[in-house]
Amino acid sequence: MITLKLDLGERAYPIHIGTELLKQDALFAPHVRGTHAVIVTNTTVAPLYAEQVAQTLQRLGKRVVTAVLPDGEAHKNWQTLNLIFDELLGAQADRKATLIALGGGVVGDMTGFAAACYMRGVPFVQVPTTLLAQVDSSVGGKTGINHPLGKNMIGAFWQPSAVLADIGTLSTLPDRELAAGMAEVIKHGAIADETFFDWIEAHIDALNGRDTAALTHAVQRSCEIKAAVVASDEREQGLRATLNFGHTFGHAIEAGLGYGEWLHGEAVGCGMVMAADLSARLGFIDEAMVPRIKAVVAAAGLPVTGPDLGEDRYIDLMRVDKKAEGGDIRFVLLNRLGQAFMTSVPDAELRATLRANV
Ligand code: NAD
Ligand code: GLY
Repeated sequence: MITLKLDLGERAYPIHIGTELLKQDALFAPHVRGTHAVIVTNTTVAPLYAEQVAQTLQRLGKRVVTAVLPDGEAHKNWQTLNLIFDELLGAQADRKATLIALGGGVVGDMTGFAAACYMRGVPFVQVPTTLLAQVDSSVGGKTGINHPLGKNMIGAFWQPSAVLADIGTLSTLPDRELAAGMAEVIKHGAIADETFFDWIEAHIDALNGRDTAALTHAVQRSCEIKAAVVASDEREQGLRATLNFGHTFGHAIEAGLGYGEWLHGEAVGCGMVMAADLSARLGFIDEAMVPRIKAVVAAAGLPVTGPDLGEDRYIDLMRVDKKAEGGDIRFVLLNRLGQAFMTSVPDAELRATLRANV
């Protein structure tokens, strides 16, 4: 097992990465202090892993309650959040209760937000079971739900007490979800570590084949990169925004097609190809980088050509991105492989990128 630390002073927490973690009493014990432990999961993940976690918590003498939510991004809303509060209040969970988020990013984001709100804040532990959640959403404390007018628009920064990323849980993940997580792995290499990017290119077959050692390294390096960024810019005043490489184009694709048509990681994969193209067009990176990024995204099983929404529609959709300031779209671009920055871009080059990639 590998243990990293997200250094946030008195709110610092460990990120444990390995196999067979769900059965290890010692990993849960320091973070589950009260009488109640509330597992929050969904209808897909519960039959696979909830019993293992419940048994571990029972061995620690906890009163275990399990909230099983409906599965899917469409349920990341107030109604579903209320189901968590129903379980907490129904079980008379007090302010020492600990929530355990067992699932992908949807469960993790909702559980974290419930933990931030319940009795004005209780601890929670992230037990991510998708690649995307292990390399991205379980780390860093962004929690929340969707509003009909915008994705992730209602939420809070609320850091977990620990992250337990069990690589073994990825064995049951559908191929398409594994590929979606790979988009965020590639992103970490592209924005922060050229050597890691080279390693991903060289190990893409092992990663696609779910080789445990390869996946463990991908999760470890991604978490190291994300933890360092979050430690230096928890509230996204600057550097943290670079984690959104590919996301401005990606959000336009997701919103333009209707949420759920493409997975978030699929849209980000294609969005990174567009952002690389734009970086080269503006002279920030060498043109040869663009086919390289495109090739690794394609090799991960992700789309590299955007849907034809129309140039104007893409631009309109990008204006409502959270990074937009007064209608000015802000892009995360590369100034070399392994280094990203934020900028506005001229309309002509943006349109050229859209024309070349849809
Ligand atoms: P998800 O949570 O919907 O999980 C994908 C699917 O895989 C679901 O059907 C889920 O039930 C299933 N699943 C989960 N674990 C499984 C397993 N081990 N075996 C089989 N099936 C399994 O999607 P996701 O990609 O994990 O997360 C996407 C969400 O994360 C979005 O809501 C996004 O906004 C959010 N997100 C948050 C952050 C953050 O910093 N908080 C970062 C990136 C994404
Ligand atoms: N996924 C982007 C962030 O956590 O900031």
